[in-house]
Amino acid sequence: MSALLALDKVCSFYGPVQVHFDLSLHVNQGEIVCLLGGNASGKSTTMKTILGLMKPRTGSVTFDGKVISGLPTHRIIRAGIGSVPEARRLFGAMTVRENLLMGAFIRDDSAAVRSDLDRVLTLFPRLQERLAQRAGTLSGGEQQMVAMARAMMGRPRLICMDEPTMGLSPRFVDVVLELIATINREGTTIFMVEQNASLALQIAHRGYVLQTGRIALEGAARALAADPRIRDAYLGGEAA
Ligand SMILES: Nc1ncnc2c1ncn2[C@@H]1O[C@H](COP(=O)(O)OP(=O)(O)OP(=O)(O)O)[C@@H](O)[C@H]1O
Ligand SMILES: [Mg+2]
Repeated sequence: MSALLALDKVCSFYGPVQVHFDLSLHVNQGEIVCLLGGNASGKSTTMKTILGLMKPRTGSVTFDGKVISGLPTHRIIRAGIGSVPEARRLFGAMTVRENLLMGAFIRDDSAAVRSDLDRVLTLFPRLQERLAQRAGTLSGGEQQMVAMARAMMGRPRLICMDEPTMGLSPRFVDVVLELIATINREGTTIFMVEQNASLALQIAHRGYVLQTGRIALEGAARALAADPRIRDAYLGGEAA
């Protein structure tokens, strides 16, 4: 089976500082794959590399069989990759509705956009009640829902999410993870960064553990959840 997304021996740098060392990973069509790892291990940089916000110095990123590393971000989005960035990045002064429609900005099929808005609002009924509210005034969990719903409005084949449960109360963490599982069941492939290993592995099919820019462990979610080295990898990743 060829992967939907693949990173092959990616080396990325901020100036002289190397962040990824021959990073290789893949996400198959239909999967939820989570990328775990401690602070500063290079998780968000992985997301930026996939979305074309960073260009690997060597190595490649392939999506649906085509090399996308080196393409500008708007072309990568058009190729079918949606994003829920770190810290959500909503348009705070715009309403929930406007934020959701921004997610469809690459599309010109306005009738289908309207029906997708209805579909997304069925999935996130809480947003239906708040369509006219400015996004910056929503609670953290509600903002996370807007960020996820906005990503879905682009009809991506793959959504990359950077720490979707960050800063949420335990109840909202469960709600958001359940929504991610639902989005996946409806056909969207998910690649997510999470620090909350045990919860992420409950919904993921497979996982990778990143440690200072290298894959330290990988495998089926169930096997990783039972692996005592997960803990060691985290501790190692946090020592800087
Ligand atoms: N714009 C930048 N310029 C220089 N260095 C950067 C930049 N962004 C990130 N870094 C560095 O690259 C390394 C990896 O950062 P990255 O944001 O990918 O980590 P992360 O795994 O997402 O961490 P966290 O769990 O804290 O979000 C860190 O040491 C960070 O300081
Ligand atoms: Mg990060």
